Amino acid sequence: MSSFERRLSDGTRIEDLIDVDTREVRVRTLADAELHQIEMERIFGKVWQLLGHESEIPNPNDFMIRALGEDSVLVARDRNGEIHVTLNVCPHRAMRVCRSDAGNAPTHRCPYHGWAFRPDGAFIGSPVGGETMHGKLLDKKQLSLKKARVTLYGGLIFATWNIDGPSLDEFLGEMKWYFDMLFDRTDKGLEALGPPQRFVLRANWKSASEQSASDGFHAYTLHEWLGQLAGFGSGDLTSSMLGVEVTSKLGHSLRCMPMAQKFERGAALKDTSLSLAERLEILAPPGIIPSMAPELERHLSTEQIEQLLLQPPQVGNIFPNLIIEHVYVPQPGGKPLGLFAVHTYMPRGVDKMEFVNWLLAEKDTPQEMKDAMRKMGVRMLGTSGMIEQDDSDPWLDQAVLAKGAQARNITLKYQAIHNPERPSWWVGPAEVYEGFTKDDTQWNWWLQWRDLMLNAG
Ligand code: FES
Ligand SMILES: [Fe+2]
Repeated sequence: MSSFERRLSDGTRIEDLIDVDTREVRVRTLADAELHQIEMERIFGKVWQLLGHESEIPNPNDFMIRALGEDSVLVARDRNGEIHVTLNVCPHRAMRVCRSDAGNAPTHRCPYHGWAFRPDGAFIGSPVGGETMHGKLLDKKQLSLKKARVTLYGGLIFATWNIDGPSLDEFLGEMKWYFDMLFDRTDKGLEALGPPQRFVLRANWKSASEQSASDGFHAYTLHEWLGQLAGFGSGDLTSSMLGVEVTSKLGHSLRCMPMAQKFERGAALKDTSLSLAERLEILAPPGIIPSMAPELERHLSTEQIEQLLLQPPQVGNIFPNLIIEHVYVPQPGGKPLGLFAVHTYMPRGVDKMEFVNWLLAEKDTPQEMKDAMRKMGVRMLGTSGMIEQDDSDPWLDQAVLAKGAQARNITLKYQAIHNPERPSWWVGPAEVYEGFTKDDTQWNWWLQWRDLMLNAG
């Protein structure tokens, strides 16, 4: 069947859900159970997904249970230190093999009939192996847990079911130049500041995910209090939101915000001619301390370091459902504290999603700073976070409203378009837009969604 013929059971062509010319998306995409099933196959069956950080399972035989789309997966380190991701579903009768959330085990024994598997998913045997209670027809190798492909990036564990598909580098494309500034910038790399917060919201995963594709517009209204609390004049966040957006046709994006204002506001410094070393001393990126400067130089180009210190990425996404938050939080009477978090929004049915929130810092970040980052991260983001309690409110409403007989047929509007102009001084790759955040980044997110829904095998 050609992509143009892909239809829902009521005859609607999937390609008609998005009007490419007017940049509109049918609201029913946020609540359609049939589309949801297709997404699980064509999107979550194909793309790279973040499952955790290797620092969560540091020792041989450590494991944790995570979700890849709506599938339960076992993320385990083998005795040689290699990390594997396997489907946590027994090939005997589809029982959940591992029911603990995390732990350490050299073997994983299915609670139903006792088939046992190694951390890499290899089938070991059944409890009465001499009787070949696993049968005589298939070779033992064919009884292993289904295995995903795994790649580590800055210690972050990414996996995909698309065994022969693009590498993670290809999947990130030209945006990797920017992502490296965040994830691959020091010798020892990142670590997770404890296990992630996880909680389930009654929302469609796409509401959170398209917002994560650099929607800055909502901050002006939804987070207005933030401006008032932080003392941004009368609470008007506009000036603090002028920056440069970078985006790719692969659906990834970042908003890069100038640091000048933060130096002035946070460190009472009016001087804009600070050297890079001075900037690193006064207001370093989250988790970075000045003594890491030589490491930054080893891992990043001069252009990347300059951008990281002068106009770093602050929010953005990796398609489809990962948000990056690399932010500077004003502190009472002092200079801002940097926070680095990534979340995934994992579907749990068409109107539920699991919000997973990791807080990150460099492994060599001083413990005192890690503690402060964790404390502030919990306060601002995730379950109890002041900011993200705001964010989740519209997502919950959208999940209910998108079911309405009238509402489902109106459209979401992505018509705030930048003139596609690249500032002459910008050196990084990808599509670049300067000014107040508009809809281009989120529109690229939808184009990539559409492409996979129509063309993924
Ligand atoms: S279902 Fe796992 S051993 Fe039977
Ligand atoms: Fe927000």
